[in-house]
Amino acid sequence: MRALLLENLHPLASKILGEAGIEVSTHSGAMDEDELIEALDGIDLLGIRSKTEVSARVLEARPDLCAIGAFCIGTNQIDLAAAAQLGIAAFNAPYSNTRSVVELAIANIIAMARRLTERDKALHAGIWDKSATGSHEVRGRTLGIVGYGNIGSQLSVVAEMLGMQVYFYDVEDKLALGNARRCSSLEELLDNAETISLHVDGRAGNAGIFGADQFARMRPRSLFLNLSRGFVVDYDALRDAVVSGHIAGAAVDVFPKEPKIRGDRFDSPLRGLSNVILTPHIGGSTEEAQEDIGRFVGTKLRDYVTQGTTALSVNLPSLTPGRSSHAQRITHIHQNTPGVLAHLNQILAEHDVNVGGQVLATKGHTGYVVTDTDSELSQDMLEALTAVPETIRLRVLD
Ligand SMILES: NC(=O)c1ccc[n+]([C@@H]2O[C@H](COP(=O)([O-])OP(=O)(O)OC[C@H]3O[C@@H](n4cnc5c(N)ncnc54)[C@H](O)[C@@H]3O)[C@@H](O)[C@H]2O)c1
Repeated sequence: MRALLLENLHPLASKILGEAGIEVSTHSGAMDEDELIEALDGIDLLGIRSKTEVSARVLEARPDLCAIGAFCIGTNQIDLAAAAQLGIAAFNAPYSNTRSVVELAIANIIAMARRLTERDKALHAGIWDKSATGSHEVRGRTLGIVGYGNIGSQLSVVAEMLGMQVYFYDVEDKLALGNARRCSSLEELLDNAETISLHVDGRAGNAGIFGADQFARMRPRSLFLNLSRGFVVDYDALRDAVVSGHIAGAAVDVFPKEPKIRGDRFDSPLRGLSNVILTPHIGGSTEEAQEDIGRFVGTKLRDYVTQGTTALSVNLPSLTPGRSSHAQRITHIHQNTPGVLAHLNQILAEHDVNVGGQVLATKGHTGYVVTDTDSELSQDMLEALTAVPETIRLRVLD
């Protein structure tokens, strides 16, 4: 097997694949469609970050590709449906930077409560502004978390360790961790907390969920953070709330329109406001997160190739089949229509193949079955399985 890793992935990815006997080549930048099609000749595994578009055209030109690893959180750059139709598995790293975002949120909360950026700017300007006015400990203060998913719930735990009282609101029924208190509406949360931190996901319905009404409902002199998605907040309304003094500080890491390239010019109604901390979408950008992404996605690719494991695949049904060392494994991706499994098993029986273990999972239009056997696999039998009309891809793992 051969892997091509683009966009300067963490070396751990090459190491994990290399140790599994996969020949790895790397390329520091992204590639455009034509370059990618050319480079994928003879390649089984592709590793990318967010800058390489893996379009339907690329996939259709290289249908023998086995799997794609997005060494990042988002997978918008890959045509996942086209990949599934061709039986190409795709994986990403949804959790690797959770802790990094949480730590930035905590740093921001403390920095705003102590007005650190104002003190820092003054001292750099040669002004000794030693004062306790408007400076607070976070211990004993209330934190309201909107969106209690991976990041929101971990922030809850770390904030409690600092002595904060945590309230949260989530559209789904989430288990409250530690002493956190669930609120049944956003309004209830806004009434109770004096620091509000947004950690909702990017579903379309979240556009503009936080605007003038929500800022007005927040308690006077509250702090506000958004490290989730830019489009969920009306930043003109946030500016007004900060300028009026109703909001005492804000920390914003995500924006509706973000510059594409490092060094590009950035504009926002929030620029230049006092006690407003602006960061260029770096919540998840730490060396630790990069290393974990390399480990996480590298392991997913390796386990798919060697064991057929699709756990946490973003486009194929999820299976974690255990592996006995002596069995041969047939993995079969197919169109999810009634009778496919029966048809496959009939072919196996006709060829005297004894099934030692078998697991099936389906997701939308795609089915995935993994079959283990100690019997000999004849070429005839493999051809018969491949000829089943619903077959998308067949692999034999030794
Ligand atoms: N700043 C960064 O660098 C950075 C890094 C990683 C993730 N993120 C963003 O952080 C956000 C959270 O990530 P996550 O991994 O915790 O996601 P997640 O999917 O685990 O959690 C999101 C939670 O928000 C809840 N939710 C959705 N809409 C809601 C609403 N309107 N009101 C209340 N709850 C709502 C969901 O039910 C879910 O529990 C995402 O938008 C993600 O893109 C930002």
